[in-house]
Amino acid sequence: MKILVTGGCGFVGSNLCLFLKSKGFNVYSLDNLFRDGSNLNFLRLKKEGIKNFKIDISNVKKVLNLPKFDLIIDCCAEASVENSHKDLSRVFNTNLVGTKNVLLKCLKDKSKIIYISSSRVYSLNDLHKVINFKKKNPIKINKEINLNFSVSSPKTLYGFSKHASEELIKEFSFIYDLEYIINRCGVISGPWQFGKTDQGFFSLFIWRALNKKSIKLIGFGGYGNQVRDILHIKDLSKLILIQIKNFQRKKNMIFAVGGGKKNAISLKKLIKMCENNLKIKISTVREKRTSKYDIPYFVSSNNDLKKIYDWKPRENLESIFNDTISWMRKNKLKLKKYFK
Ligand SMILES: NC(=O)c1ccc[n+]([C@@H]2O[C@H](COP(=O)([O-])OP(=O)(O)OC[C@H]3O[C@@H](n4cnc5c(N)ncnc54)[C@H](O)[C@@H]3O)[C@@H](O)[C@H]2O)c1
Repeated sequence: MKILVTGGCGFVGSNLCLFLKSKGFNVYSLDNLFRDGSNLNFLRLKKEGIKNFKIDISNVKKVLNLPKFDLIIDCCAEASVENSHKDLSRVFNTNLVGTKNVLLKCLKDKSKIIYISSSRVYSLNDLHKVINFKKKNPIKINKEINLNFSVSSPKTLYGFSKHASEELIKEFSFIYDLEYIINRCGVISGPWQFGKTDQGFFSLFIWRALNKKSIKLIGFGGYGNQVRDILHIKDLSKLILIQIKNFQRKKNMIFAVGGGKKNAISLKKLIKMCENNLKIKISTVREKRTSKYDIPYFVSSNNDLKKIYDWKPRENLESIFNDTISWMRKNKLKLKKYFK
């Protein structure tokens, strides 16, 4: 099977390319190398003989002129919520026009699509009501969010672009019988993620701790009690392999995907984890102001995936931490300029 991974030199895309290649698929990448660090991932792909088409996904002509693929896995996005409010045109062109172009390409070649969506499609207002959050107190981790959760607006412009892409995929499926799977992912982490404050905090915290730098706790009073669940990129890759193998049986479906309750952690606890592991004391800087787009809690339900594919995350917080830190230790010099 010939597979194109868009955003193939990004964190998710590059790990997926290499994983699928190791399972015997004929894998290609599309990436314009816009993101800091994607050039390093490009070299990882090149070493394994995976070709990258260096084109902008918003260029419909160039997308349609690519060779034919059996499956396109759409991982191409500007994945930062804050950036979507600073540079809307680029974000919509990449996230929404990009998906539209991928869909036209799928129609032209009768290929299937697996779309990597985001838990950011859910309504901000309703996400704020999931738990009774008191910013000074630790959160009890017992709620899991599933597909029944509200997707009414507002949801951030990034979330809107991801939700609009989901809706467009469903329209194409309805009108043209396009076959799809949508994975609505929570926080994903692991090696080769170049974390930033608003996207990839797990790897960013580990990098800063490893380099004995202070860590900023932003929003909700700066107490660090916000909670997220973390999914190892290895677990997501394994899920996608199962989905590819079962595509004919299970298609045109949306799934909630995440680390789940067992892999949920507050920012404060992640700092403790870094301190215990590295046997150091980390200084923190409290930034009390909360961004309009931040949410106190997100933990994903994986119940449908368990029922349908018998899949659940195998990696725990410790193994995600250990895999990430050993990647950083091995590549410390190379990575320096990509982390702030
Ligand atoms: N990382 C997460 O925690 C997470 C969580 C939920 C959903 N997602 C989704 O997963 C996908 C991958 O995210 P990621 O974390 O790997 O992000 P990433 O930024 O690491 O990867 C995106 C890649 O797309 C490329 N790109 C950006 N604009 C482009 C354009 N116009 N044309 C061609 N290439 C372009 C970038 O160079 C980069 O290599 C995204 O769709 C994102 O919305 C990620």
